[in-house]
Amino acid sequence: MILLDGKKTSADIKEEIALEVSELKSNEKKTPHLAAIIVGNDGASLTYVNAKVKACERVGFESTLIRLSEDTTEEELLNEIAILNVDKEIDGFIVQLPLPDHIDEQKILMAIDPDKDVDGFHPTNVGKMALNLPTFISATPFGILELLDRYNVETSGKNVVVIGRSHIVGSPMSILLAQKRKVGNATVTLTHSRTKNLKEITLKADIIIAALGIPEFLKADMVKEDVTIIDVGITRVADASKKRGFRLVGDVAFKEVSEKASFITPVPGGVGPMTIAMLLKNTLLACNRRNS
Ligand code: GUN
Repeated sequence: MILLDGKKTSADIKEEIALEVSELKSNEKKTPHLAAIIVGNDGASLTYVNAKVKACERVGFESTLIRLSEDTTEEELLNEIAILNVDKEIDGFIVQLPLPDHIDEQKILMAIDPDKDVDGFHPTNVGKMALNLPTFISATPFGILELLDRYNVETSGKNVVVIGRSHIVGSPMSILLAQKRKVGNATVTLTHSRTKNLKEITLKADIIIAALGIPEFLKADMVKEDVTIIDVGITRVADASKKRGFRLVGDVAFKEVSEKASFITPVPGGVGPMTIAMLLKNTLLACNRRNS
């Protein structure tokens, strides 16, 4: 079994990005600048956004964190977005999800300038991705493609089963892996909560992408020998023995499934760190595009 080490791979990518940034700086070109908006005080969301800002510093990017209170109105948030859209200093920005219930998420995502939408969530960018046109591929599916690529996991002609149809992960992942691209050309089955006989389907999979958000859902008796497992799940499960009072659990029963797998991502340290590296990659791309 080979561990798909997202922590190490993301560190490699960040090193490559840092090198490019130092070249930009030595040529007196613009330094990439990422902004992030977060609304409210959700602990997990704050942790993610802070990790993104910290990663910017590490690779030499500029970063701006905009923290808005839980009771921010939709109009106020739209106003912040309008400011970032025209700010010449900002190459790309994200609005951390989920948003409070009183804010219409789709309306917010549609207000972001597609050229600054480094999350790749704007319908224009989702459409381009679906047509295999150059665009920002959102960080999680992009990170999974990169991880499979760097470990030379063959996808062409393989049976890939994606579990979960979210707009952020499952749906784009199924589209990308079926496309004619370096990591792609797979026969993809997208499964979800209404899928019948899931086990029959997963038992035929060469590669499984688990992105449904149920801790330890995928068990050893659901997979065949030598399967490749990508575990996107990351749920905080209460654990009094841990310093922070919780541990992070993926969608895969790691111990038993890893005994049958040829490749598998750990949680934490698998897909998670890759998403940040790919967000940085998209921001660098946005900066280079704006200045070319
Ligand atoms: N919430 C969970 N994942 C993401 C992400 O990739 N981007 C944003 N903006 N919010 C998220």
